[in-house]
Amino acid sequence: MALTLPAHPDPRHDEILGSGLLQELSYAFGGPFHFVLPERFDANLAAFRAALAEAGVEGRVYFAKKANKAAAFVERCARAGAGVDVASHGELREALGHGVRGEDLVVTGPAKAGRLLRTAALQGSLIAVDSLDELDQVLGLDTPRPVRVLLRRLPPSQPQSRFGLDDAQLDAALARCAGAGDRIRMEGFSFHLSGYEVRPRADLAGDLVGLCLKARTMGLQADRISIGGGFAVDYTSAGHWQAFLAGQGPDDYHARKRFAAGDFYPYHSPVAGAGALRAVLAARPHGTGAPLAVRLREAGVMLLLEPGRALLDGAGSSVFRVQGVKDRAGYGIVTVDGTSLSLSEQWFNSEYLPDPVLLADGPATGPAYRACVGGASCLDSDLLTWRKIAFPARPRPGDLLVYPNTAGYQMDSNESPFHDLPLPPKVVLRHDGGRPRWRFDRRTAH
Ligand SMILES: Cc1ncc(COP(=O)(O)O)c(C=O)c1O
Repeated sequence: MALTLPAHPDPRHDEILGSGLLQELSYAFGGPFHFVLPERFDANLAAFRAALAEAGVEGRVYFAKKANKAAAFVERCARAGAGVDVASHGELREALGHGVRGEDLVVTGPAKAGRLLRTAALQGSLIAVDSLDELDQVLGLDTPRPVRVLLRRLPPSQPQSRFGLDDAQLDAALARCAGAGDRIRMEGFSFHLSGYEVRPRADLAGDLVGLCLKARTMGLQADRISIGGGFAVDYTSAGHWQAFLAGQGPDDYHARKRFAAGDFYPYHSPVAGAGALRAVLAARPHGTGAPLAVRLREAGVMLLLEPGRALLDGAGSSVFRVQGVKDRAGYGIVTVDGTSLSLSEQWFNSEYLPDPVLLADGPATGPAYRACVGGASCLDSDLLTWRKIAFPARPRPGDLLVYPNTAGYQMDSNESPFHDLPLPPKVVLRHDGGRPRWRFDRRTAH
């Protein structure tokens, strides 16, 4: 039986797919493209803010910009007064250029470039310091006002992480901050954890509240903590996900490719998005005492978070045109007009699993047909989907394949103009009933 993994039903998305607009855009651009839905971003942001308000916690949401390059999303942040997490000078420039104020930026990432630190300091942005060397660099900046910093904690539960300061380094950093006088404003601590679990986030957040109290005894401000990102996205139902994991094997993939189940993104998460934030706030750090929300309130500590993927849930999809189809024993190989670099997940020795939707160019005629999906490159390994997808009919050149819900990291984090193929443009869709309207994203040069 063919292995399927349908994305959650999304009637608005179906309306866009049924509107005929995607075929027109594919014809106009002559290549793959992505569409983004900023209203979904707004709704996700509102849900995170509601979770903070319900818990009575003062907090700020910073969109982790690395998750999508579209200007449309930072424009929404600017409009909504949300922050942006930037990790390069380019991201910082983009955020400022689309209206986000310098003081609404948090700068993350390791060993930040000198000009990133300098610009961030001049803009009054918050800098998450990752090492003692970096702290010294910040202390050496010649700026007219104190530089705002957080100290990033190496997570004790992930000691192999290359990010953050360990206990001894934190002590040294606190002493340097305390001795730096007006050159620095030490606003608190931060971390980002790999994975999507609630418990370690609540535990470490509780520890960071304790660190704030300790830092205050040294005369430092220490009134906020950032718990980074890692709020899961729930792409599919529990039933589909369990059936997929139980059923998959080498015969389901082209060339009998093997993927370790643990390398797949957890496409179903019972606790996801703003619900995951609610769970973190309700958890008792290390299983004892008051819930995190209460500890934050009592200590007067503000909660910062940096969701990327979760703010983009449902906020965009990627469209490819079928260029060719050929048969192999028992299945087929569909080749589309773009590459797997526009779907990113293969970069992580994994693949993007939610089923692509086939939009047939004309009436589809069965029977059902299984095929993997290859990219238009000369690399044998360039497959958007190694899995033999169960298509309702044999795809034909001119049909479209729509990969759903790709805005979070999938669509552009690893794109490159390999083979001199142009980067797929992004279009911003507005669809509030009636005909969907589109425009180019302001970052797409045309
Ligand atoms: C420091 C930091 N904050 C936030 C994020 C965003 O994570 P996510 O998209 O999983 O929410 C990342 C991702 O790598 C990160 O490194």
